[in-house]
Amino acid sequence: MSSPEDTQNQKTTSRSERTAPDSFLTIEGQRRFLDTFLPIRNQVIHDFYHSPGNGLPTGQDRRQNLRAAIRLLGGGADETVPDIYRLYYNRLFSAIWLALNWGPYTEEIRQLTDPQLRVYHSQLNSVDTCWQPAVEDAPDDGLLVEIGTGLSDGWARIALLKPHINIVSITIESDQAEIARSIADRLDVADRVQIRVGDIYDPDTTSDLAGRADAVTAMGVLPHLPDARKAEGLSAMASMLKPEAPLLIFDGYRVRPFRHYMTRALASNRSPYPSSEEFTTALNDAGLSLTRFDTYTAESCLQIAADTRTTPQLRREVGPVIAWLFTRVVRQFMKDLLKPQESVHLSAVRQRQQ
Ligand SMILES: C[S@@+](CC[C@H](N)C(=O)[O-])C[C@H]1O[C@@H](n2cnc3c(N)ncnc32)[C@H](O)[C@@H]1O
Repeated sequence: MSSPEDTQNQKTTSRSERTAPDSFLTIEGQRRFLDTFLPIRNQVIHDFYHSPGNGLPTGQDRRQNLRAAIRLLGGGADETVPDIYRLYYNRLFSAIWLALNWGPYTEEIRQLTDPQLRVYHSQLNSVDTCWQPAVEDAPDDGLLVEIGTGLSDGWARIALLKPHINIVSITIESDQAEIARSIADRLDVADRVQIRVGDIYDPDTTSDLAGRADAVTAMGVLPHLPDARKAEGLSAMASMLKPEAPLLIFDGYRVRPFRHYMTRALASNRSPYPSSEEFTTALNDAGLSLTRFDTYTAESCLQIAADTRTTPQLRREVGPVIAWLFTRVVRQFMKDLLKPQESVHLSAVRQRQQ
């Protein structure tokens, strides 16, 4: 298998000339998606996490959000991955980002004047880039499986791009699933998008999908898999693929050690980022071979730190002072997270032929 370094190249996105819809991998198409998706997604999350009433956060909501912000920044608690999403990530990050991943910035995205739009486009562009082989090559009415529903931008983007495609999106955290199902209803795609709660390590989560998927994607998921079980997780994902269908991973690996406090914070947030060697070993151990590997320099990703800012939505959630402080700390955190990851990668891997 080729190593990441052997096949390293700098990816610039370009619109597909082949079967992809017109709005795929274009700023205009992404903007149209954001205009449709964001108001629905934000309303659904707001309704989900707030007590009924006048629609504004109650004192109890605010206290909960404040506790969430403090815990997230302080670290140290013994929570599971689903706890972390349910208690903190879903509600707080949905107020500042489109998604829970970060995305590389292209030249075109850098030229957008609104920093909030730059964040959204970089994240959405990473969705398009990750799913590109599936969007271009899967049959129109094929089956795509997403591991990691997150805040619903991935499956929603693809379901709207491909009006006959079927998607199963899997998450380990049940709030995400409930939110996603509401969004699917409002986007009128619930008949072909199934949201499933399950752990990728539990065979029951995926057994009915064995050998059926035209592609499987996982964005931002690998760091949550324990180091010693990353290969096992990759194998479980690949087991759903039809022969020759691609497993599409979009994630980061570290090329330098993290600072001590970051190592602790990442451990406490259950995110052990693999080194590039560990990542390559996990792919090999899972019997997967790379067909494509694109790397992005830290510089092309770091702008997300600069563009992370207080939004009116976050201010409403936690009040102006905490919102201001929170985003400053998150910006610093993102810088410290991204710098030791000289690259964020996209890799498309296939099951090795027997
Ligand atoms: C950082 S979020 C990424 C979400 C989305 N793909 C994105 O890029 O914004 C990680 C996702 O992985 C899911 N996840 C983590 N560990 C998992 C596991 N063992 N089984 C299934 N899903 C898992 C979480 O529920 C969450 O949806």
